Amino acid sequence: MIKRSRIVGCGSYLPEKVVTNDDLARTIDTTHEWIVTRTGIHQRHVAAEGEKTSDLAINACRRALAHAEKKIEDIDFIICATTTPDQTFPATATTIQAALGMSHGFAFDIQAVCSGFVYALTVANNFITTGQARRGLVIGAETMSRLLDWEDRSTAILFGDGAGAVVLEAIDGNGTLEDQGILHTLLHSDGQLNEILHMTGGPGSTKCVGSMVMNGREVFRHAIEKLGGAIEEMLTHFNLTEDNIDWFIPHQANERIIDALAKRFTFAPEKVVKTISQHANTSAASIPLALDAVVQKGCLKKGELVLLDALGGGLTWGSALIRW
Ligand code: COA
Repeated sequence: MIKRSRIVGCGSYLPEKVVTNDDLARTIDTTHEWIVTRTGIHQRHVAAEGEKTSDLAINACRRALAHAEKKIEDIDFIICATTTPDQTFPATATTIQAALGMSHGFAFDIQAVCSGFVYALTVANNFITTGQARRGLVIGAETMSRLLDWEDRSTAILFGDGAGAVVLEAIDGNGTLEDQGILHTLLHSDGQLNEILHMTGGPGSTKCVGSMVMNGREVFRHAIEKLGGAIEEMLTHFNLTEDNIDWFIPHQANERIIDALAKRFTFAPEKVVKTISQHANTSAASIPLALDAVVQKGCLKKGELVLLDALGGGLTWGSALIRW
């Protein structure tokens, strides 16, 4: 008998305000057609003035707790993956902790940009499977709109705001592929590649946020290579084939990246979860938002195999295999 962790509840939250491609085309030199053709994005949600990353996350957490039929007293820890914390410190996770009325346990943030949720899930899984904690909230929450230069058409079109959360809980397993819960996670990073996607500032260097620098073509190329590599590594680890995967939930950065991966691994379109057209790239929030979208529709069935796959600045990337 070994300890596993499984997702027992999901929740997500999107800010009310929707910004369409046509809205963007009114202020920058772009078109709806260009954005859809190159990225698959039709619209994105944008936080209202004063609406913070923690506000989105708190709503997502409340929904996840309700879905799991758990109270905050049942939770041992909160991990929030975010690139857009409310403040430089304290961690946004502690702000969320306070708002949820929790003063026991522990809470901290993880920064792995768009891979943040897979990193956070890995760390949370390790707390639970080593017996250090029984139940936790794992969050991906972002207000990427705050980082954007809305005049820069090469990046402003790509991102959106939102939050997703899951309740992760200990469960006994046999240590086999048939166990329910997180079966395996794998993480990678290559700091040599941080130049291709980074912010020019930060509290420890310029004392300000800075602006986003992205070599879109290079990020695109590495995304296909590394996300594909992570899938292959996961399949090989368990001696599985793509046919064994019931649901593929990738980071939502560009529909062409998702489609290229789906084609390479011959994932049928109905197995591939895509929310990019409505949410754009919500960084660490994209996978839990996409997961919640299918969970709330009742699509995921007990026993199905779910593969998460993410890549972000750093570069960081990783995947997780979950038996639902
Ligand atoms: N609207 C209209 N034209 C635009 C534009 C926009 N929003 N942004 C760029 N262009 C123009 C460029 O200036 C360029 O014009 P030129 O040929 O006259 O020089 C042309 O479109 C092609 O630009 P390019 O950057 O080569 O386009 P692309 O096909 O690579 O698509 C991205 C650009 C950003 C959509 C694409 O590279 C991408 O998605 N990369 C990955 C980004 C990503 O996922 N980042 C987050 C990772 S977590």
